[in-house]
Amino acid sequence: MEKVQVLDKSFRISISEAQLKERITALGKEISDAYKDKDPLLVSVLNGAFMFTSDLIREIDFDAEVHFIRLSSYGDKMESSGKIREVMGLEKGVKGRHILLIEDIVDTGHTLDWIRKRFEMENAASVKMCSLLFKEEAFQGNEPPEFIGFTIPNAFVVGYGLDYAHLGRTLSAIYELDE
Ligand code: XMP
Ligand code: MG
Repeated sequence: MEKVQVLDKSFRISISEAQLKERITALGKEISDAYKDKDPLLVSVLNGAFMFTSDLIREIDFDAEVHFIRLSSYGDKMESSGKIREVMGLEKGVKGRHILLIEDIVDTGHTLDWIRKRFEMENAASVKMCSLLFKEEAFQGNEPPEFIGFTIPNAFVVGYGLDYAHLGRTLSAIYELDE
């Protein structure tokens, strides 16, 4: 599909299913090399990262613990509120562990900074992030994600787990707002 409609907005294709698959396979190899002997905790950030997480972890060639956290910053709007709230936390301590966060998208970087600081305060051995998408032009954070699937322009995107007002997540590709 080249164009899709989600509620009142139309979107056009940005990253195809085949492009996603190819890049995620490569990311899996990068992560396998970097974390092979580190016994990392993989921490997926819900809701947006669920689809990416499930595809990425199948491309990693070691067994690892996979945990989930859920944060809320966006509500139903298209702009980040900057205020982050933990809706569901980790049931597991991170002290001394290598944490690899799995995110769908890094936009302003407020969420990334917030989680990093939080896990560093709890004395994780290291905290890095693998984000499928990175809006480089919008980024105002301290450190960009260490592993990035695609750097994309500063346009709102949906699909492959990412939503507009909770819809659009079921799409198999990434679509950007058509203006
Ligand atoms: P920040 O600005 O903290 O944002 O880096 C991170 C969170 O904001 C959401 N986000 C988006 N969600 N399309 C979406 O569906 C987008 O284009 C978009 N940009 C940011 C997302 O939840 C991310 O974790
Ligand atoms: Mg997210």
